[in-house]
Amino acid sequence: MNSSAPLWQRTSRVTREIWLAAEMSAPRYARAFVPGVLVDWGLERLREDAELVASELVTNALRVACVAGPAPCAAASVRREMIRVRLVLLEGSLIIEVWDPAVARPAPARVMDPSAENGRGMLIVEALSAQWNSYDPAEGGKWVWAELR
Ligand SMILES: Nc1ncnc2c1ncn2[C@@H]1O[C@H](COP(=O)(O)OP(=O)(O)OP(=O)(O)O)[C@@H](O)[C@H]1O
Ligand SMILES: [Mg+2]
Repeated sequence: MNSSAPLWQRTSRVTREIWLAAEMSAPRYARAFVPGVLVDWGLERLREDAELVASELVTNALRVACVAGPAPCAAASVRREMIRVRLVLLEGSLIIEVWDPAVARPAPARVMDPSAENGRGMLIVEALSAQWNSYDPAEGGKWVWAELR
């Protein structure tokens, strides 16, 4: 874990995590995972935003976790990696973090271009979260995280 790993990685914490195959179904499974955890943690009010953030982060992870082709895992022949989705309960906030095997970091567009067909995901994450960032764990790949308050 490098020194830029966020504080919650170095302190005791409550977490819930799922591993998903990098397939088209991954964003749907990620959305389905969120509400039950939020009920357990008494954070139902964050449900809508948390589902949206999780699904944007997972959709991005899906693209880089599929080794071949621009379309997310469209071809049956592509090698599929795993994606990890983790929720972390902090005092007063919720962290949603998603791991993928790629080193490259998200590069959000600077402005929302209404005619663009993509480049919205991280702007949505930015709008819904108090902060977001990414870090490299010792095991490789990267985690991209967003904090909802
Ligand atoms: N997990 C990731 N790993 C590597 N690069 C990423 C990751 N997430 C985002 N990026 C990069 O950041 C860019 C912006 O991401 P963003 O989600 O805003 O847009 P998009 O995925 O291209 O389009 P949209 O989300 O609107 O379908 C992506 O095009 C990609 O280049
Ligand atoms: Mg995206």
